Amino acid sequence: MLYTPIKFRNVELKNRWVMSPMCMYSCENGLANDFHYVHYGSRAQGGTGLVMVEATGVEPRGRITNHCMGIWNDEQAAKLQKIVEFVHKNSDSKIGIQIAHAGRKGSTWENKQISLEEGWETIAPSPIPYHPSERIPHELSVEEIKELVQNFKDAAKRAVNAGFDVIEIHGAHGYLVHQFLSPLSNVRSDEYGGSFENRSRFLLEIVDAVNEELSENVALFVRISGTEYAEDGWNVNDSVELAKILKNHSVDLIDVSSGGNIHGAKISVFDGYQVPFSSQVRNEADVKTGAVGLITKVEQAEEILQKGNADLIFVAREILRNPYIAVQGSFEMKEDSFFPHQYLRAKISS
Ligand code: FNR
Repeated sequence: MLYTPIKFRNVELKNRWVMSPMCMYSCENGLANDFHYVHYGSRAQGGTGLVMVEATGVEPRGRITNHCMGIWNDEQAAKLQKIVEFVHKNSDSKIGIQIAHAGRKGSTWENKQISLEEGWETIAPSPIPYHPSERIPHELSVEEIKELVQNFKDAAKRAVNAGFDVIEIHGAHGYLVHQFLSPLSNVRSDEYGGSFENRSRFLLEIVDAVNEELSENVALFVRISGTEYAEDGWNVNDSVELAKILKNHSVDLIDVSSGGNIHGAKISVFDGYQVPFSSQVRNEADVKTGAVGLITKVEQAEEILQKGNADLIFVAREILRNPYIAVQGSFEMKEDSFFPHQYLRAKISS
């Protein structure tokens, strides 16, 4: 199944390998540069069905660090467009972008909060820091929430104009959207807090606003944390309920990760440890899902698909080690039609 195409709207992925979004902390002013051009381009040459560009801030405070990628202005979008054009011209891979806001987890370097002078005042649904040693984030007003929804919409518009095939909204890992979803980080008493419905409102408003910018030629994914491993926190049953609603809001795939919102949460990490969350969301909500987390082998990826636990395989650290994992897997599984055509020619002449 790894080499069976799959379609989201009119976007057909040639195989099920996805380069998982990974911040590279290598931008100045949020601008992609030559490093990113080669970094993403090489994964497309490596046969990856979908190359996903890292978490990209929808406004300056949306970055985790001063060196994160941004898409809040046209100069940033123009740099990204160069990468998109390379991928489309030189491979039959598709390329997506994860649009994100760090919220209370912004203004850091190497996982530590930086000063207000070097960084910025962080924002969150409620004035609760991620770690008690950090500055108290600014509690967003309803007006500010509406502006943020608009920031996501504008980012999606720029991404569409740059030619991206997939937009992924980052709703996981304790960043702003997740901060709204969780009853542990969101204790608001207005229409954005309290009930499950109210806590989901920010994400659903973003989804609807982003969808207004998308045609059938651009698919929409949402990454969530299936659970946050905390008593009374966001759990996998919430994820199933959310997935059902997202499906009705024309979200094409739920990319199921976990954790990130609760400092010190106990997480048991093993091969494919997040696959059960993807499986439960896929089977109980009847949605397409992506599985991610310690998936490092071709046979392991194939088995996840065969068992109906996911539709796409997101690979992060392993694809840093092996940008050619999709090509390598196609060779192992004798599916060499996925070689870049230049490599096929070398094969014929040998
Ligand atoms: C990540 N991860 C991540 N996730 C995300 O949604 N957006 C991001 O920008 C990043 N950034 C990032 C940077 C780096 C260097 C790593 C290693 C990871 C998480 C990543 O996409 C993935 O979910 C996890 O790494 C688990 O998958 P692997 O690494 O076990 O395949």
